[in-house]
Order: sequence, then C-alpha cells, then structure tokens
Amino acid sequence: VNGEFNHDMRRVPTGEFMTPSRKTNGVGVQAEDTKICVVMVGLPARGKSLIAQKVVRYLHWLSIKAKTFNVGQYRRTNTPNPSADFFDTSNSEGERLRRAAAEAAVNDMCKWFAEGQGLIAILDATNSTKKRRRWIQERCDAEGIETLFVESKCDDEDIIMSNILEVKTTSPDYVGQDPESAAQDFRNRIRNYERVYQTIDEDEFDLTYVKLIDVGKHVIINQIQDYLQSRVVYYLMNLHIRPRSIWLSRHGESQYNLNGKIGGDAELSERGEMYARALPGLVKQSVGDSRKLTVWTSTLRRTIATARFLEFEKLEWKALDELDSGVCDGLTYAEIEERYPDDFKQRDEDKYNYRYLGGESYRDVVIRLEPIIMELERSENILIVTHQAILRCIYAYFMNVPQERSPWMEVPLHTLIKLTPKAYSTQEERLKADIPAVSTFREKGSSAKHQEAA
Ligand code: F6P
Repeated sequence: VNGEFNHDMRRVPTGEFMTPSRKTNGVGVQAEDTKICVVMVGLPARGKSLIAQKVVRYLHWLSIKAKTFNVGQYRRTNTPNPSADFFDTSNSEGERLRRAAAEAAVNDMCKWFAEGQGLIAILDATNSTKKRRRWIQERCDAEGIETLFVESKCDDEDIIMSNILEVKTTSPDYVGQDPESAAQDFRNRIRNYERVYQTIDEDEFDLTYVKLIDVGKHVIINQIQDYLQSRVVYYLMNLHIRPRSIWLSRHGESQYNLNGKIGGDAELSERGEMYARALPGLVKQSVGDSRKLTVWTSTLRRTIATARFLEFEKLEWKALDELDSGVCDGLTYAEIEERYPDDFKQRDEDKYNYRYLGGESYRDVVIRLEPIIMELERSENILIVTHQAILRCIYAYFMNVPQERSPWMEVPLHTLIKLTPKAYSTQEERLKADIPAVSTFREKGSSAKHQEAA
C-alpha cells in the first residue's frame, strides 16, 4: 500500500487509509498517480473479453476507476463486418487498418489516463505477437503507465467451442449473418491468427505478466510490481468459467422485521419459520435434483434457522452478517429519525458512504465482502442465505449495479433469486414463496413504518 500516514488518520482494519470522518468515500488503496494498463493477450475465442469485463466490474465494485479499450470496436469503425481474409497477415490493407485501430485505442487510453480519469485500463485485443507487445510496452513506458500482460491460453476444445458459439450469436462482426457460416468464418479467422501467434515466453522475462492456462487450471506469474497489480492478479487466479449458478435469499421474516426494528439477532417470526420449511422445495424447483450445492449463511440466528432444513453442506460466515448499525441497532427507522435527525438525513443523502455511529457503511460492507466474492468466483453452485444490505452488495457485484443505486434496491423477503453468470452478463430469475411477509424497504426521504409486502 502506498499512502501517507499521519496523526489525524486512522487505519481501519481493511487495510485502507481513511480520515476519522464517518463518511467513507476514499478509495485509499493506492497512490493516486498509479496507472496500469492490463494488456490482454491470446487467440480469438479464449475468453479475453469476458475476463476483461469481469475485471472492470470487480474494480468498479471496489470503487477503483477502470475502463476497457476494445481494439475490435475501433476496427469496426473502419471495417464493420470483415471476413476471415481481413485477418490474414499477407493482406497488407487489413494489416494497416488493424494497426490503425490498435493505435487509436492506445491513444485514447493514454488520453484517458492523462486526464486523470482512472487507475486501470484494459486493452482488449489479441496482442498476439512479441512485436505488438513490445510496441505497447514502449508506448506505456513513455507515458508513465505500468503494463500487466494477461495471456489467456486455452487448448480445451469444449471451452473454445462454447466461445465460438457465443461469438457467432453475439459478436457485432456477424450481425444478421447465418450462424453456421459465421462460425466457419470465425474458425478461419482463428486459423489466420494461429499462424503468427506467439505465446509469452522467456524472451519476454522483463514483462510483468500472468499466463492463465485453461482459465483457472494453471497460472504463471512474472514480475508483479505493486499492490494493485497483485490484487488484479489474485482475482484472475480465482476465475473459472465452468457453468454454475448462485442463489441468494434473505432469511425468513424475523421478529425484528415484524416490529420494524433494524439489526439485532432475532428469531424468525411464524411466517419466517414457514419460509424456512418451504425453502427446500423452492430450491429444488430452481436447482433441480442433480446439482450439488453448498449453503452459506451468516452467523446470525435468523439465517441459520432459515437454512436449517436444507440438506446440503453448510458454512457460516461472519462476513455475511448484516450491516452493523452501531448505536441504531434495535431501533426502528422512525426512532432513528427522532433520536439522530442529522444522521438520518445524512444517510438518505449518501446512503452508500454513510457510516452508522459505531457501525458500518455500505462501503465498509463491500470491503468485508471481498473475500466472499473471491470465494464465490472460485466456487460452483452456492446458495447464500443472508441479510438485506449484504444481499444488495453481492447482487450489485454480479449485476453491475452502480453505488448510488445499490443501497436503495428492493430485495423482498421470502424470495429466492437465481443468478447465472453468462459470457457477457448475468441472467436473473426470481422465485417467490407464497408466504406473506412485511416489507422492510424504506424509500429515500420517508420514515414510514414497515408494511405488509404487496
Ligand atoms: O430491516 C432489515 C435490515 O436487514 C436491517 O437489519 C438493516 O439495518 C437494514 O435492513 C439494512 O437496510 P437499509 O440499509 O435499507 O436500512
């Protein structure tokens, strides 16, 4: 960590440096002048764009400004629907236009850094020759930008085939084309790249790089320079692309929910108990019979009780406990408004950054959830039974929900949410149990008592 540490700053347990203010809006993880270009390397259909998009989503979730510069998008401005021949290196016009696209992307990226708009750029292209990589590195060196090359090397036919299928149906290069001829053309394009492709090897010992072999199976790391780079690398090491889903549920309605109180460690209400009994059936309906599942709960009674009839392996995580509402724990929103009117207002003005007196903010929760996200990335099918604020933060990570919106999302009780990560987005399904519950949702600016959900 780079950072000044003086008497009026305190170190919070997350490793971040922050001022004593209860508003927590600093990133605080790296010196402000850090600039890193993550340079993707690899043949087409090796999941580079997927990896790039996931890294950006993860960084945004952690409040680190990041942006992808996709050379294909630049190339489409001069050549929108090229056939495979365009990518043949003996096609000099194709070579010229591809080079121009790469230059335009790198120029825009340098401009973006120079304007101080972000810390991490992802240069998404094949960057498949040593010459091209050297050129990028020299451009970045000249601008004071660190480079981190990320090669996705994959010979697993199943993964390549599923990427080809994905590309032929989603790539703007093949819009409106017959899917079969699109797939054939794409295979020919790959063949053209294979002729010139050079994997990163010992000659490039001075580069900072990560080689991901068969996404997650084998990782080679070279010359990592600093904290932020190592954080990106650690994230990359945990990724896999095996198909799986994540299920999210709040605990069943609790006694505190009934009374409109926040926090605490209350038991389930009668209806909450009914939800716990109904959950195995709901899960079966959504998961099917055959799939293996692990259930994660918080350490609080209401989530453990909700999960207790599920016949799967269970793990309790302290990190999944509800947002700590400090001195407001056990109060209703109306009581908070009465006793701490300024705080109540401040929370509404900036709910993500507002930290309860003696408690936490949503930003704090995101930081404590990072190991959960890392573990989720490594895992396969997981069902998480947790709390309103925690569920919002996990959901925001998968669905790319911006910070200003995530603490205000409605997450009803007695509802099972299924998230299925796909190549470029996450699919969502919701299953509602037919068991009524109060609504614990409070709209911005209102002090309304908890109500029966619609
Ligand atoms: O009301 C249920 C609850 O889980 C409380 O324990 C918690 O403080 C609150 O939701 C979090 O939601 P919000 O951030 O909208 O107050």
